[in-house]
Amino acid sequence: MKLLVTGGAGFIGSNFIRYWLKKYPNDKIVNLDKLTYAGHLSSTKDFSDNPKCTFIKGDICSSELVHEIMKAIDIVVHFAAESHVDRSIVGPATFVKTNILGTQVLLDAAVKNKVKRFHHVSTDEVFGSLPLNSKAKFSEKTIYDPKSPYSASKAASDHLVRAYHNTYGLDITITNTSNNYGPYQDPEKFLPRMITNLIDDKEIPIYGDGKYVRDWIYVEDHCRAIDIVLQKAKVGETYLVGGLTKDVNNLQIAKKLLKIFRYDESYLKFVKDRPGHDRRYAVNWSKIKLELGWKPKYDFDTWLERTVEWYKYNEWWWRPIKKEAEKLYAKTGQK
Ligand code: NAD
Ligand code: DAU
Repeated sequence: MKLLVTGGAGFIGSNFIRYWLKKYPNDKIVNLDKLTYAGHLSSTKDFSDNPKCTFIKGDICSSELVHEIMKAIDIVVHFAAESHVDRSIVGPATFVKTNILGTQVLLDAAVKNKVKRFHHVSTDEVFGSLPLNSKAKFSEKTIYDPKSPYSASKAASDHLVRAYHNTYGLDITITNTSNNYGPYQDPEKFLPRMITNLIDDKEIPIYGDGKYVRDWIYVEDHCRAIDIVLQKAKVGETYLVGGLTKDVNNLQIAKKLLKIFRYDESYLKFVKDRPGHDRRYAVNWSKIKLELGWKPKYDFDTWLERTVEWYKYNEWWWRPIKKEAEKLYAKTGQK
């Protein structure tokens, strides 16, 4: 099998390639990544010499390049995107270009070259926001109601993927997954930002009242879910993928981290809220469990601690990129 992985120098993409090469050592992978501020060759260092994996620096919006690459591809796993909500608020244009136009360019090339499967990696944020203190959860039947430029662009890309299945018969699958955490996540995102601040003995910035709820999934569980969908799912299907069954809010997570670091609550710093901040996400992942037999393996408390350990032992990876992340928050005033 020959896979095209887009965005394989990013957080989840690089973890996915690592996972795949280990599990399917005979497969070949082409990693197409533009190396934006969020793409780091350092995240691919441990497999960059693997002859089964080729790296191409390029933009998914470049039709000619994408068509050329697609000629020899069986399966596309599409991660490449602008992925950070705060950046989409500061500058939505690149989100529209990469997430919508880029996806459409890939879909066109996939149809033309008759790829066997186009798997689209999407987010639970396309469903909007749930009320606090309710039992409601997102499911595959929830109506799309994205609230940020990021989630709106991802929602548009999901619609395009389904439209290409319906109109041109492209064999697609989609996963909408919750907040991933684990190694190689950019320190601009919540958990790595908190962890790297604490390593540096700095306060941790909590947006608004901190009572915002996300569903958290360890990145390897997400990679395994994509694998199972590729192996077992019916073409055209969508699966929601999540990690938790009970709500935990940002403030509670920040306190878990303070406990791990043995710091007191004076390290909490309440800062300006994110405009249009979605209150709560919760994911009902029973379809993938019942139909494909997937469920998360890694429990949050244990793997949060292991993630902290990873950041402690891998300063070589995050230190060079931490400054860039903090530049964003100097702009937004969330420091
Ligand atoms: P990331 O920001 O860490 O990585 C994105 C990668 O895409 C980077 O390597 C970047 O260089 C590359 N890229 C960006 N624009 C490109 C372009 N025009 N052409 C080629 N490459 C380009 O993102 P992530 O957190 O790893 O997320 C990967 C995917 O998973 C995204 O589609 C995101 O929407 C989705 N997702 C993420 C999460 C999460 O919690 N991180 C949850 C659900 C879904
Ligand atoms: O739900 C899946 C989504 O999760 C993915 O589609 C996105 O690509 C990914 O970035 C993530 O989006 P969030 O906006 O939920 O993640 P972020 O890490 O930016 O923020 C998580 C929560 O923490 C959110 O409620 C905002 C809050 N936050 C974030 C930062 C960076 C803080 O309180 N302080 C911070 O410094």
